[in-house]
Amino acid sequence: MNFLLTDEQEMICKMVREFAMKEVAPSAAQRDEEERFDRHIFDKMAELGLTGIPWPEKYGGIGADYMSYCIAVEELSRVCASTGVTLSAHTSLAGWPIYKFGTEEQKQTYLRALAEGTKIGAYGLTEPGSGSDAAAMKTTAVRDGDHYVLNGSKIFITNGGVAEIYVVFAVTDSSARHKGVSAFIVDSDTAGFSVGKKEQKLGIRSSPTTTIVFEDCRVPAENRLGAEGEGFKIAMMTLDGGRNGIAAQAVGIAQGALDAANAYARERKQFGKSIGAQQGVAFKLADMATKIEASRLLTYQAAWKESEGYPYGLESAMSKLFAGDTAMEVTVEAVQVFGGYGYTKEYPVERFMRDAKITQIYEGTNEIQRLVISKMLLSDY
Ligand code: CAA
Repeated sequence: MNFLLTDEQEMICKMVREFAMKEVAPSAAQRDEEERFDRHIFDKMAELGLTGIPWPEKYGGIGADYMSYCIAVEELSRVCASTGVTLSAHTSLAGWPIYKFGTEEQKQTYLRALAEGTKIGAYGLTEPGSGSDAAAMKTTAVRDGDHYVLNGSKIFITNGGVAEIYVVFAVTDSSARHKGVSAFIVDSDTAGFSVGKKEQKLGIRSSPTTTIVFEDCRVPAENRLGAEGEGFKIAMMTLDGGRNGIAAQAVGIAQGALDAANAYARERKQFGKSIGAQQGVAFKLADMATKIEASRLLTYQAAWKESEGYPYGLESAMSKLFAGDTAMEVTVEAVQVFGGYGYTKEYPVERFMRDAKITQIYEGTNEIQRLVISKMLLSDY
């Protein structure tokens, strides 16, 4: 067993860290304040090849592994969790199902555009009445000649409004519950597709979250992803990897908060010495660092398993659960280390704390992760 990063992973880590510090960090607080997505940052990520990290070069990617992708999401989230999730949803939730289930033509058209970053990807599963119970979705897709006609709406769509390619799930057979769900690739310029309400959020505020609406939206049958009725499985398998991307985001947020708390603990003096030299603060830092490292190891392990072709659904649910809970705990503690200053916008830790909360909620709440983990434990997984 080798816990060192490969030369390629080291190189990607260094490149993303430099990019994050130079191009992402300076505007993070302001973009958060203004709830502003910056396409320019995405375009620069595309120039660096970050929008297609795990996809083969023949589809426009750079052919690296899932760990490199997780490292990139982590390094971005260390300074800006919104930018981290933009890349995570784009790669794991839109690119992955096309890579795994797409036809050669779909890959050349859609995966290539995502990998090269000329288009942004998004994923539409959740509906107003169907969150944790994903199979209860109501959006329908009715076959009409060489098209499917989609009607319904999806909510809480990360990259909503800025994405041009949406992987969407809809019911093609309402008598079959999850076995009646199919997956589709929808271009944002399709007639009948529109972007609805933009959410005002507690955190990840420069990552747009919107409703998307389908009103007699005619999607070519050739844009169906996988077979009819295979959609629920595609949605679940996509989330297996997506959850590890969120774990990487959570590790990055927590590390960013620890970096800030650590620097402050060295410089801030009370009672004649640095607060870091006082056990109440020093022990907090030790606990924070230990939990972050455990989260990182779980995350990298799941990514390594995916790259090597081993099952990784269990590990991915565990990494999301543990890293998400850790990010919340660590960011609350980071605010505490800063005391009154931590509660102000003068320092980034209040933003990290607000950003951390979503990692316990999206891509399956941490209660759903416990359900997934326990189901696997109690089966023959
Ligand atoms: N891989 C492959 N197949 C899977 C699977 C997986 N990970 N999980 C389930 N399945 C299959 C099962 O094997 C079963 O297949 P068969 O009928 O052929 O046996 C079928 O799917 C149904 O499985 P369940 O009976 O377990 O399904 P369920 O209805 O009880 O739901 C659930 C299971 C785990 C609770 C699921 O509904 C779930 O994951 N819910 C949470 C939804 C979620 O994560 N939403 C996130 C939205 S996306 C998002 O947040 C994006 C963002 O903003 C960034």
